[in-house]
Amino acid sequence: MTGRWSTRSGPSRVDYIRWAKENVGVGEYPLTMSAVPPVDWKEVGIDPRSLELFEFSRYGDEELLAGIAGEWGLTSDHVLLGGSASHAHFCCAAALLEPGDRVLQEMPGYLPLLDGLSVLGVETVPFHRRFEDGYRLPVAELRESVRDRQVRLLLLTDLHNPSGVALTEEERRFLADLCEDSGVTVIVDEMYRPFIEPDPGPLHRLHDGIIAIRGLNKVHGLSQIRVGWGIGAPAVIERARRVLDGTTIHNSCLTDQVARQAWRVRDRLVERARRIAAEGNAILGDWLRASPLEVVEPDGGLVWFPRVPPSVAEDGDALRTAALRVGVNLTPGRFFGAPSHVRVGCALPPPALREALRRLAGALPGFAR
Ligand SMILES: Cc1ncc(COP(=O)(O)O)c(C=O)c1O
Repeated sequence: MTGRWSTRSGPSRVDYIRWAKENVGVGEYPLTMSAVPPVDWKEVGIDPRSLELFEFSRYGDEELLAGIAGEWGLTSDHVLLGGSASHAHFCCAAALLEPGDRVLQEMPGYLPLLDGLSVLGVETVPFHRRFEDGYRLPVAELRESVRDRQVRLLLLTDLHNPSGVALTEEERRFLADLCEDSGVTVIVDEMYRPFIEPDPGPLHRLHDGIIAIRGLNKVHGLSQIRVGWGIGAPAVIERARRVLDGTTIHNSCLTDQVARQAWRVRDRLVERARRIAAEGNAILGDWLRASPLEVVEPDGGLVWFPRVPPSVAEDGDALRTAALRVGVNLTPGRFFGAPSHVRVGCALPPPALREALRRLAGALPGFAR
């Protein structure tokens, strides 16, 4: 397994999801998490004994569908409710792509989505969001690539995973113009977007050629009920529902019931997430600014993506190995296509986060707090 990016079709060869599954419980202080800690039944407002084992919905609970769409002035036919955000991504992309189509994907980026699409036989082409540019979108490069390379689909995240940088209003408009001028489709993963206030809503609202992906995994504290959705033009959503028919038939009725109730209390859950993120980012931000690691400040979310200078460690993997020796787990940057970085999360309760960082400081040459 290497961190090298391949432009051939096929998976990225950095098996992040397998690594993440195997790393649950590794290290006393897991700074690997990108989601808020889970909520309990009480916080969602459900008595689990009230759940029904049979409830039928064709394409997801009607109240939930109408709620997700209605929040942004849309109708339910704009929403594909999938078995997770990853599943919604796959259904929407598979509804559009044909073998041999070109897909532009941000680097560093969240590569498992691309790995999912690799079974469709598409060609993947990276575009770079550079540390030196604060991970801004390379708009000129994107415009050129889309024009010259006949790109069918552009994939990116907002907030950017792994850096936590948000798209600016200018970049949002650029993407809408790009769709309008070139006919390219954009799928933007907005799983982390509600961390930041105000939430401008799904980018789909700026152009019909944009599909936005959201879910309850990262912000709402419900990572294990497995639900996510795509918001797009009804014609694409209808095709994506055909893919859903063939990949899961319909979602679990237990998920439907929990997600429906979570949506009713979403303001409370989002507020909780913003509070956790504000506390964690204040602690981690202070620590990182004083450390020898090089940072681009995230706009929000629960992760930072510092660069590891050679004076500290050979690369992100080497730093992670040193961190594990003091009980702290970090995510090597190679899983996002940037081997000289590590992803550091701040979702632990403040006392645990402070202790993790105290230990980590001891493991970094030239930095002891
Ligand atoms: C950008 C992004 N999208 C999607 C997911 C996965 O969401 P789900 O578990 O709902 O498929 C993750 C998880 O890390 C993520 O970081």
